[in-house]
Amino acid sequence: MTTTLVTGAYIIAGLCFILALAGLSKHETAKRGNLFGMIGMGLALVFIILATVLKTTTDGVESSGGPSWAIIAILAAMAVGAAFGVWKALKVEMTGMPELIALFHSFVGLTAVLVGWGAYFENIDHATGLHNGELFVGVFIGAVTFTGSIIAYLKLSGKMKSKPLVIPYHNVINLAALVVIVGLAVWFVLAPALWLLVIMTIISLLLGLHLVASIGGGDMPVVVSMLNSYSGWAAAAAGFTLNNDLLIITGALVGSSGAYLSLIMCRAMNRSFFSVIAGGFGSDGAVSGEEKDYGEYRETTAPEVATMLKNAGSVVITPGYGMATSQAQGVVADLTAKLRAQGVEVRFGIHPVAGRLPGHMNVLLAEARVPYDIVLEMDEINEDFAETDVVLVIGANDTVNPAAMEDPHSPIAGMPVLEVWNANTVVVFKRSMNTGYAGVQNPLFFKDNTVMLFGDAKQRVEDIISAL
Ligand code: TAP
Repeated sequence: MTTTLVTGAYIIAGLCFILALAGLSKHETAKRGNLFGMIGMGLALVFIILATVLKTTTDGVESSGGPSWAIIAILAAMAVGAAFGVWKALKVEMTGMPELIALFHSFVGLTAVLVGWGAYFENIDHATGLHNGELFVGVFIGAVTFTGSIIAYLKLSGKMKSKPLVIPYHNVINLAALVVIVGLAVWFVLAPALWLLVIMTIISLLLGLHLVASIGGGDMPVVVSMLNSYSGWAAAAAGFTLNNDLLIITGALVGSSGAYLSLIMCRAMNRSFFSVIAGGFGSDGAVSGEEKDYGEYRETTAPEVATMLKNAGSVVITPGYGMATSQAQGVVADLTAKLRAQGVEVRFGIHPVAGRLPGHMNVLLAEARVPYDIVLEMDEINEDFAETDVVLVIGANDTVNPAAMEDPHSPIAGMPVLEVWNANTVVVFKRSMNTGYAGVQNPLFFKDNTVMLFGDAKQRVEDIISAL
């Protein structure tokens, strides 16, 4: 009876996770999607504890008279984990989300490794070949996810250079590591010796480090969603090892949706999916010389931009990471409302990897209550730049860099970009001539129809509003 209740709760939790994914696919339903996710996770937690308590009691551990130390340890670990999670979530800035997500993925990877190792020692005498195979796969994916996510965390948080690490024969090294791991897996299924598990874990940890270190800064968004997918598969493998259906379902949902998101992002960025999951496979790491002389740039002032906007018929705003760091979305929404009230057509052009996480700009604009119908995707707006009077590039850089189309050796070569330079006038809001995330200079800043408005984006937009 109670087992039926637990199974029923697992099914409901699984359904909640599916509804969560469906909700998260659109702005309008994203909040509801999150709510379903929370309900599903809450149910899963309560019932897994209930199932564990029941199992411990029926196994007779309670009958010894003392408390069940296993349950106490689980509850204590959960309390510590929850406290850490709440503290981190309250503290994190929106701009720090990607690195936090990468850090959380590393925990999932580490957990899968520990679950696999724990199951090895627990079942060493009576494990089947199938069980050994599941365990081996779980530890492998978990170890790659663990170290890969730590490198992603270090790169995203700027604690490590975002440039790709290119060591000689890196593709051969990755391939050799995979071949050795497959060989060890076959051996382990037939004869599960501890040393096989130790060697595989070490190789997998190094492989994770190498795979992500070989990927350049511009491709990191795909890596984050790919690691998300790996963490799902690692959880699913842990579910097989622990015989937990809900963990298998949840892991598979995260794994497949993460893989699909990676595929969508690869298409959007014109990258080969295989190349990214294989750690920059096929790239020789060559980048163009950074010291190119693009000539002079021109500066402007907020009152000058206000005059330009007053006289404009159509304006497109292309926000980027700088809008997020300066928290300018509120004043950008005010500027939009003011211009629209004066009869100017204002629209937004959103690049799929603008900012630091998928949908970053959409979230900020929704938070500032910018109407959804004037927020357009890159493909929807790119052709319209030629008929646009003024483009305001607010804290964007790589996503509006013409070098992606013009320089085949650029680290962002081939990535589709917002073709803002086709507009009549382009105003770039930034604080200095520093590069963006990919670390490459932007020839847009030196074009004849571009003017630079230096300073914090929020401050400059406020200055424009006052001058209007
Ligand atoms: P970036 O290329 O990162 O450029 C941001 C620009 O904002 C910088 O040039 C910076 O110049 C400016 N800025 C920073 N703070 C500012 C402030 N307070 N006021 C005004 N300007 C400010 O931005 P992007 O165009 O959005 O491109 C995103 C990049 O991140 C891409 O390379 C993408 O591949 C990568 N990435 C994306 C994701 C996802 S999923 N979206 C995840 C990881 C990495 P100054 O320093 O001179 O002010």
